[in-house]
Amino acid sequence: MEVTHTAILGAGVIGASWAALFLASGRSVSVYDPSPGAEAAARAYIELAWPTLTQLGLTTRGDPGRITFHDNAKIAMESADFVQENVPEWLPVKHALFAEISPALSPHAIVASSASGLTLSQMQAGCPDPARLILGHPFNPPHLIPLVEVMGNDRTAPGVIETAEAFYTDIGKTTIRVQREVPGHVANRLQAAVWREAIHLVQTGVATVADVDRAMSAGPGLRWAAMGPTTLFSLGAGPGGMQAFCDHFRDTFNGWWDDLGQPYLDDATIKMIVEGAAEAAEGEDHAALCARRDAMIAAMQGALRDLRAAKP
Ligand SMILES: NC(=O)c1ccc[n+]([C@@H]2O[C@H](COP(=O)([O-])OP(=O)(O)OC[C@H]3O[C@@H](n4cnc5c(N)ncnc54)[C@H](O)[C@@H]3O)[C@@H](O)[C@H]2O)c1
Repeated sequence: MEVTHTAILGAGVIGASWAALFLASGRSVSVYDPSPGAEAAARAYIELAWPTLTQLGLTTRGDPGRITFHDNAKIAMESADFVQENVPEWLPVKHALFAEISPALSPHAIVASSASGLTLSQMQAGCPDPARLILGHPFNPPHLIPLVEVMGNDRTAPGVIETAEAFYTDIGKTTIRVQREVPGHVANRLQAAVWREAIHLVQTGVATVADVDRAMSAGPGLRWAAMGPTTLFSLGAGPGGMQAFCDHFRDTFNGWWDDLGQPYLDDATIKMIVEGAAEAAEGEDHAALCARRDAMIAAMQGALRDLRAAKP
């Protein structure tokens, strides 16, 4: 199935970013978001994102003008091949919306949910056509971070996952398939594991929030953008690969794992990391930090694209 027309449900942080990317890829986009300020905010977001997408070579097929905003969810669904849902992470809201749009969907339309914390089966339970509802979980901001975690299950119609993966790949995404339902899917669990230890290190006085953040972005974070942790470690003990690394470091890692912390986000911990994050920002406000994050990610993406193109 060719995806030519898309729809966005909920145009907040995630929906506006998806809209920018769908437009950049040459698709038309219909948006439904009942918030009075949503259209202006989404248009402003797309305008801001467009130069970066152009710099990355992602707008050659695109036209930022091919977007329409609707005050009715059903009308926004008309002739959409692919619907990306990004409404608040609250099951009754998602269920009500799925029930509302269902009669207006084309029979071939796929609905992908960006949900981070809800599972596919929880969402399918309130969806009149669960066979075409899948998980398409992005990383913020979706127009810059390649990863999309895709998941279907035994209720998913044949071919739906493959079509969704082909669409995401065509718009420049890297997909992984989540094979079993777990809270947080894959990448957020990895983030949660690392963040738990980051907080533990601050809580126990090993380093400040700013230094833990610096340790990550100047160290493992940079390597992890190149290759995943297991592949990297397989290069860490010479030509013997993963077996040599495990032979060498098994006791070390088992000892570290036994020593890792188990903090929880209680009031005192939250106060500590809020203060630490403010210090780490060194006076930059939210907008400036977002702009710097996006500029650095775009620069890395550009360099990686050039390297991939040069790969023999
Ligand atoms: N923020 C992130 O980092 C992130 C990352 C990946 C996935 N997600 C997921 O994306 C989804 C959206 O998150 P967000 O951060 O963009 O939230 P958000 O609050 O920024 O945006 C939600 C938007 O949905 C709109 N909305 C509310 N009810 C609606 C309805 N019935 N129909 C259509 N629109 C409606 C709101 O007006 C708002 O603009 C959530 O499921 C979340 O888990 C978020």
